[in-house]
Amino acid sequence: MSASAKIIHAAITGWGKCLPPAVLTNHDLSTILDTSDEWIVSRTGIRERRISHVGLEELAWVAAARALAAAGLAGAEVELIVFGTCSHEDQVPNMASAIQLRIGAQQAAAFDINTACTSFLYGLSTATALIRTGVVRNALVIGAELISPFMDWSNRDVAVLFGDGAAAVVLEASGREEGLLAEKLGCYAEARETLRVEGMGGRYANRGVLYGVTRWQFAGQEIFKRAVQGMSGACESVLQRRGLTAGDIDLLVPHQANLRIIEAVARRAQVPPARVYLNIHRYGNMSAATVAVALCEALEEARVRPGAWLLLPGFGGGLSYCAHLVRWGERVAPRGTSTATLPHNDKSALELLAELHERKLRPRPPGVPPFS
Ligand code: ACO
Repeated sequence: MSASAKIIHAAITGWGKCLPPAVLTNHDLSTILDTSDEWIVSRTGIRERRISHVGLEELAWVAAARALAAAGLAGAEVELIVFGTCSHEDQVPNMASAIQLRIGAQQAAAFDINTACTSFLYGLSTATALIRTGVVRNALVIGAELISPFMDWSNRDVAVLFGDGAAAVVLEASGREEGLLAEKLGCYAEARETLRVEGMGGRYANRGVLYGVTRWQFAGQEIFKRAVQGMSGACESVLQRRGLTAGDIDLLVPHQANLRIIEAVARRAQVPPARVYLNIHRYGNMSAATVAVALCEALEEARVRPGAWLLLPGFGGGLSYCAHLVRWGERVAPRGTSTATLPHNDKSALELLAELHERKLRPRPPGVPPFS
């Protein structure tokens, strides 16, 4: 690189979220599972979560349209779409191309990323790198997840933890030092069996498990330990890389899987509670959508000031872990708003769950081959 070459950064210029309206409370769950509001709140911090009445594409598209409006960028101008998820409606074609079509980004590249709950943050790294190296000038990065159809709603160990949601950010090339400035990415592959969702891949077809009919293998306490270790180690690593300390961080926006995990990570990172963003009580763990939604809400609630340093630690299946250090730009208000919205829903979350249950149990009529 010549001495005069300018470093390109990837500023976050737009943000938008989409939460389905149906709310599943802890009390609702206690009517279908042997659990209680008291247990769930004291062990996890979660009070309610959302259940979607639409598919993943619809949720992600509304979030994307809102993020583009906030950036003041037309869909046709988008050069890259990165869709972070592990609950694809389709593996082929990918989810990113569905969004490309809907926003009219005819010249864009489009691909999906799956590192489970960290997919949005890994997508942020990938898109930022492609902007920094001049491959594209802007990108739409989506974190969206529709967990409810893949949940085993008879398993109280996991059913109380997750919810549906989507959010997106727009990145644009910038000469100013802002956007993602340092990250640490990692994976505890030796612990990959601590979270396995049987029924979400081709491996299960010859074992008589239908796609979407899932059994969760879930070692909660081991995941808990690894999550704290991975996220706090990654936070330390990015702060060191930039020569910063916890005192420089204006807001910690962590993955929201368990309040006790977040408190442990904040304690180890020495970030006081007042500088930790929390929305786990409203949504539970939305996997890839979690940090993206939290970032949007932190902006909406005026918790992000111009020039703020944000630290975004995450972990997910794999077990992947990471931390992203973001310097916010000057603008903390959206440029515009979008009229994109979800179709009306008049069903309760429990009614939506009953429909999902019925769809999974509906037997194939005798003599009808599996793929007819
Ligand atoms: N309601 C009532 N009781 C329950 C429930 C429930 N929903 N779930 C478990 N229990 C019971 C257990 O059966 C056990 O009973 P026992 O003592 O009679 O055997 C008791 O509660 C304690 O269970 P533990 O598993 O020891 O509870 P713990 O305090 O470890 O909390 C939890 C469990 C909340 C799952 C915790 O381990 C955790 O949060 N782990 C990390 C989870 C996580 O991060 N998941 C997402 C990561 S993966 C990703 O992001 C894609």
